[in-house]
Amino acid sequence: MTDTLTITDNRTGKSYEVPVTDGTVRAMDLRQIKVNESDFGLMSYDPAYKNTASCRSAITYIDGDKGILRYRGYPIEQLAEQSTYLEVAYLLLKGELPKRAELDAWQYEITTHTYLHEFFKTSMEGYRYDAHPMGRLVAFLGTLSTFYTDSKEIHDPIIREQNIVRIIAKMPTIAAWAYRHSLGRPYVYPDNDLSYSGNFLSMLFKIAEPSYQPNPVLERALDVLFILHADHEQNCSTAAARSVGSSQADPYVSLAAASAALYGPLHGGANEQVLRMLDRIGSKAAVPDFIKRVKNREAKLMGFGHRVYKNYDPRARVIKKLADQVFEVTGPNPRLDIALELERIALEDEFFVQRKLYPNVDFYSGLIYEAMGFPVEMFPVLFAIPRASGWLAQWSEMLDDKEQKIARPRQIYTGSGHRDYVPSYERG
Ligand code: CMC
Repeated sequence: MTDTLTITDNRTGKSYEVPVTDGTVRAMDLRQIKVNESDFGLMSYDPAYKNTASCRSAITYIDGDKGILRYRGYPIEQLAEQSTYLEVAYLLLKGELPKRAELDAWQYEITTHTYLHEFFKTSMEGYRYDAHPMGRLVAFLGTLSTFYTDSKEIHDPIIREQNIVRIIAKMPTIAAWAYRHSLGRPYVYPDNDLSYSGNFLSMLFKIAEPSYQPNPVLERALDVLFILHADHEQNCSTAAARSVGSSQADPYVSLAAASAALYGPLHGGANEQVLRMLDRIGSKAAVPDFIKRVKNREAKLMGFGHRVYKNYDPRARVIKKLADQVFEVTGPNPRLDIALELERIALEDEFFVQRKLYPNVDFYSGLIYEAMGFPVEMFPVLFAIPRASGWLAQWSEMLDDKEQKIARPRQIYTGSGHRDYVPSYERG
């Protein structure tokens, strides 16, 4: 068997042989296919990149049909069970799990960069109390770029690493301060004696106690949620980080772009929308009616469906189990019954079965976040905090990939042909 593809151009009768590598043909190999010498050459057309690999990547593997997700080869279930978020962040960025001393050094590095410049406090005051925290996250990532001007030295490995550490360390501080500002509560400085997720809980919920002791079940649950959200290969926000980063912009603005992409309700904003949807449905009895509306295209079942998974999202499976542990501490979330009924009906219904629509990561995560005391606006931020490590790993991989250049898609022009300018007074 030869790993090539023979293409016959019926417009000219000519045949071409193009190599097939890793189950792909190179779009540039199509360019030689022309009807005449002045022809630009054949392009591929793929709106929304439904069937186009934009890079080679060694970070995350997904088999959407089988419902498999692995970071650097390690199954997500094992990482969720046994690892910590900071260890996973190291794995994503460096390719291997850290040895004990490496992990200690990494944790030390992150915990000693959690503070924000005091300017961020005054800057926070410029926002209304109800400003969406995702909007603030996007803005503050851009602001950090103005503080760490050396971050533009993206090809200097030491500077690159320093700024990666700063971003992972400061994401929870930005998020927590945005939350405190919306409540009118004083900001809580990072407590470097706590774990990554423990410190985040402290910055969010500490009131007057001299030192905040996070509930260990909730602290671990948050850490597991961070692990589950850390990377997901070439999704919309990662593609944004890579695309902006490909212009050699610094990592802060590249991640501001990624966060903006994540904010949308079809991506990381879906967890917020799931809760709003459950509230609108209101009761278990109203579920069949809602499903009818979805099938009539009057509503969307948020937290369902995925571009890649055509099976149960493995992250949703872990989250569903995690929910039981969290609800033991917080008491049950009354919306759980509505969610379970939605899932039960949808998984049996021909509309969803035929389209292979299953619960995704966002379907159950919001129920946990809400039980832990987070307002819905914070949900996408809780997605963005851990995803920063994935974005940075992908951004860094892109910069080191000799095949990558500035991202610049082609188009099929559908507008007017040449026409001459007419002054306004002559336009009738
Ligand atoms: N509710 C109802 N119908 C749906 C849904 C849904 N949630 N998702 C897909 N469909 C239908 C869609 O209408 C289409 O039907 P038809 O072929 O008859 O027109 C078919 O299923 C295929 O959907 P698609 O829109 O072509 O699929 P896509 O790969 O372009 O979109 C998606 C994937 C995640 C944007 C979409 O499933 C969706 O909008 N889901 C709800 C939002 C959501 O939960 N997003 C979180 C995704 S997971 C975490 C993350 O990436 O952030």
